[in-house]
Amino acid sequence: MKHLLVLDAGTTSTRAMLFARDGSCSATHAADIPQHYPRPGWVEQDADDLWQLTERVARAAIADAGGAERIAAIGIANQRETICFWSRRTGRPLAPAIVWQDRRTAAICRDLREAGEESGVQARTGLLLDPYFSGTKIGWALEHWPQLRAAGDDLAIGTVESWLVWKLTGGAHVTDAANASRTLLMGLGSGQWDDGLVELFGAPRAALPTIVDNAGELAETTLFGGRIAITGLAGDQQAATIGQGCLSRGEAKATFGTGAFVLANAGSAPPTSRHRLLGTVLTQIGGRRSYAIEGSIFVAGSLIQWLRDGLGLIARADESEALARSVDDNAGVYLVPALAGIGAPWWEPGARAAITGLSFASGRAHIVRAALEAMAHQCHDLKTAFAADGADWARLRIDGGMVANDWMAQDLADMLAIAVDRPHFTETTALGAAMLAGLGCGWFATLDDAVAAMRGPVESFTPAADPAHRAARLAGWQRAVEGVLASAR
Ligand code: G3P
Repeated sequence: MKHLLVLDAGTTSTRAMLFARDGSCSATHAADIPQHYPRPGWVEQDADDLWQLTERVARAAIADAGGAERIAAIGIANQRETICFWSRRTGRPLAPAIVWQDRRTAAICRDLREAGEESGVQARTGLLLDPYFSGTKIGWALEHWPQLRAAGDDLAIGTVESWLVWKLTGGAHVTDAANASRTLLMGLGSGQWDDGLVELFGAPRAALPTIVDNAGELAETTLFGGRIAITGLAGDQQAATIGQGCLSRGEAKATFGTGAFVLANAGSAPPTSRHRLLGTVLTQIGGRRSYAIEGSIFVAGSLIQWLRDGLGLIARADESEALARSVDDNAGVYLVPALAGIGAPWWEPGARAAITGLSFASGRAHIVRAALEAMAHQCHDLKTAFAADGADWARLRIDGGMVANDWMAQDLADMLAIAVDRPHFTETTALGAAMLAGLGCGWFATLDDAVAAMRGPVESFTPAADPAHRAARLAGWQRAVEGVLASAR
């Protein structure tokens, strides 16, 4: 029996997993990615770490499978927007990778906005002027790291999947259309690098990869013994959208990983948000693109990590559920987790997190509960923006590490006032990359066939909140988030 090997290179960990044709996962190997915070608001990773740790877990999974000849194909999903710089000659990084959470280009974004560039950028890319995206990070790096300019034609630039494919193949320089749509450099409708945008952001055109499909014979590696084709590539949120089977217009998912990202299938025409959401490529297959509308929440699982490692309020992440249940309500405490600025629909890079409503009656359980409640509140803000854009969600499919927490899943249903569906197998990002790779290697004729074969059972949470309680929660959050935004502006 052959397996699909998925490399899921996320922000905090990289994983290699084996999938069978029925979607069952028989092996997982994971490694944590070291994070570097050289200054407040800066977040870097070492591209060598990204490669070496991914290679290590890949080798372990291939050994589990019984060798390279047992791997039908490779699919890659990756943290998006994070940008790597390397030498074509040596295949070594020339600078740190700048991570999507990094805020160092906030002033560049502000200047571009004040110069009136945002509406043109949004019309061409579907994105907004925020440090989140790769474009201003590339411009900043070229200006501040002289070795990159000095490298001239030797310089290669790419998002994480592009870097991993280069290392796997020994020099293929490609990126998939979904990842490329996060750079600010690709025309959303054309699927090509846009010369005007490349110039606006100061990116060296010759250093950029070729944009390819999300599924197909995209590249091949001989690094693990035999020849293995790489037949699926996608940003992790697009992969999760596929893994959740959101193939029809309007179907929406939320993945609670490091951040939380809601993507709703928007069909075959590039969407334009009027309420500060993003238009993005969902897939490009056979040169035909489908699109999604996205709301990006920057802080989700990383908040629970921070409660554990930064504040020492909990010893283990899974304690949060019992603590939230141990109190009747939040006792008026709200936590606005703007630890890396605040993303959609507010886009305020200078925002700072706040815990409001504290009194002597507040204990650590209230703060932990407020942290979990913030997930539903951030999603509710997105739902309001999606609805205003005419793309309201009828129900929401949820996945990612945090949704094992039943209390949080129910709170989402209660605050959103819609049914929330949770698959039994919540590693939906990896599953979606497996579906793309399975399509690309010919296991399946269409993505619908891949979803039908690989997607497992789902459990639903239905809204049950008392309307007055829900209204009070939403109003309390509104006041807290407005306070955070007011002090950032
Ligand atoms: O856009 C950033 C996103 O791709 C990061 O995903 O899974 O690391 O939260 P994750």
